Amino acid sequence: MLDGKKVLYSGMQSTGTLQLGNYLGALKNWIELEEDYQCFFCVVDMHSITVRQDPAELRKKARALLTLYIAAGLDPEKNCIYYQSHVPAHAELSWILNCYTYMGELNRMTQYKDKAAKHSSNINAGLFTYPVLMAADILLFQTDLVPVGSDQKQHLELTRDVAERFNSIYGDVFTIPEPYIAKAGARIMSLQEPSKKMSKSDENVNGSIYLMDDPDTIVRKFKRAVTDSDNEIRYSDDKPGIKNLIDIYAAATKKTASEIEAEFASSGYGDFKLAVAEEVIKMLRPIQERFADLSKDKAYIDSIIKNNGEKAAYYANKTLRKVQKKVGFPERIR
Ligand code: TYM
Repeated sequence: MLDGKKVLYSGMQSTGTLQLGNYLGALKNWIELEEDYQCFFCVVDMHSITVRQDPAELRKKARALLTLYIAAGLDPEKNCIYYQSHVPAHAELSWILNCYTYMGELNRMTQYKDKAAKHSSNINAGLFTYPVLMAADILLFQTDLVPVGSDQKQHLELTRDVAERFNSIYGDVFTIPEPYIAKAGARIMSLQEPSKKMSKSDENVNGSIYLMDDPDTIVRKFKRAVTDSDNEIRYSDDKPGIKNLIDIYAAATKKTASEIEAEFASSGYGDFKLAVAEEVIKMLRPIQERFADLSKDKAYIDSIIKNNGEKAAYYANKTLRKVQKKVGFPERIR
């Protein structure tokens, strides 16, 4: 609890440009939950360097992501929106938690296995211990709720296991966080390969809708989306392409799959794809406009970065000092 409210924490990597899955699986839910919680939304730039990055690009993307959080509707006065690399407590707690996490646990992480296969020439220790840094992010803020897409569920389970292990040795140090995985939009798939999740790092740009895509591009990508050939709009696992389009439409409109099936009972795929594209364009337009305006206001974004970085460090240090004391680090002399 913080100021009488439960704590919500989440973050995104500042690699690539956000895609529709990031928005529907995470960001949109953050906005819906922000009123009821004390929220921390992090640009997790320290996670990003587990894969090689161009330094100038990474800096630019981190700022764009922070601006996009605000453009999407998060209130930076009420919530703490900050860069992970500006709060050293993340790295410090991560080191301590490394000593309470087993190799076997990290070996089981499916995202590690996927990334190691994809970046076989750079399987660095950071890629392996990445879930521990994520656990540190969450536990530093005594978080109650973590809204994420379903691909992060395993990392959340590890976070809970490590926190429970630590608490069982030292008493109630960490709040045990609950994941929040919304029904609609928790796993948006690639438009080109609907068996694969939509991803910022997909080399096939036609598989992803990026939040900054213009209307023509969005229409073109949806028109080309891979589907089956029976022309029936039905929500079923054996129709992964159409199922994914129904999921996108459902998350954008808050309609259920059966309502959508009924609405398009007499339509073909062409009409349905256009309808999905229109909803997505309508949903993204205001975000794109606000992003363009905010990006011009350097001083305002700078002030958010400074103030919120300090605020995050204040809360994070409170937990860190407690943990350092518990594990036996010497008291500071003041
Ligand atoms: P990242 O940057 O890969 O993704 C950010 C958020 O978007 C969700 N997401 C999706 N949801 C639905 N469909 C998709 N295709 C899709 N792709 C991505 C992710 O589940 C995530 O919620 N490790 C995290 C970042 C992180 C974090 C944290 C999150 C670091 N520390 C602490 C929560 C709390 C990651 O790489 O997310």
